[in-house]
Amino acid sequence: MQIFAHRGYSSKYPENTMAAFKAAAKLDITGVELDVHLTKDREVVVIHDEKINRTSNGKGYVKDMTLKELRKFDFGSWFHPKFLGEKIPTLAEVLDLFKGTRHLINIELKSDKFVYAGLEELVLKEVENAGLKDRVIFSSFDHEAVKRMAGLAPEIENAPIFPYSILNMKWYRTLFPAKALHVAYRAVARRPVLEAIREGIPVRVYTINKKEQVDVLRNLGVEGIFTDCPEEIKGMLKQA
Ligand code: G3P
Ligand code: CA
Repeated sequence: MQIFAHRGYSSKYPENTMAAFKAAAKLDITGVELDVHLTKDREVVVIHDEKINRTSNGKGYVKDMTLKELRKFDFGSWFHPKFLGEKIPTLAEVLDLFKGTRHLINIELKSDKFVYAGLEELVLKEVENAGLKDRVIFSSFDHEAVKRMAGLAPEIENAPIFPYSILNMKWYRTLFPAKALHVAYRAVARRPVLEAIREGIPVRVYTINKKEQVDVLRNLGVEGIFTDCPEEIKGMLKQA
């Protein structure tokens, strides 16, 4: 079963920081998951929320600040004082770290209340510059963004994210034959997702931090999981 470190090794390090990605890069796991937003000066940065309030000592929307302004804030000490000084990473910096490893990198395109015009093109450019086209997966809750990515780079794996089950996966797939599906745990054991698994479509599930959940998902035949505790889950799977 594939294991992806969700927002990096986020149970032990501040999520979506270089510290979390460096720790994940040392693990023998499938890959990492990260979230991207766009700054006022159109830099692709790695952060989960559209605002910096929860994960830094600053306040405000990413879209309203330049990269230089964002770099002034601390993205580590909210998690633990020992991480004081962690800066918001750019996508280019994270990709650079993984050039030297074999990990897959799942880039989740965020949109939330805003749609970042041209985010897909900018993200793809960063991936091409890093020479990592064969090791990335593009995903989003915004299925239009995933479709646009599929149009720009059909050879790269893409996955719409489903927080809930949908009634008719066959119908959905006539609209958009995505290469993979990323699904919330609550939505997995539903007929449309189980049918997709039976058809051989890779299904990956978030966010899985408990052994009981891993056992259920292995029995269902899911391709992979996103976890905040990659080391512990890897250990569990080795023992089983
Ligand atoms: O991509 C799976 C998962 O990361 C989606 O949820 O809120 O953690 O970005 P979230
Ligand atoms: Ca995510």
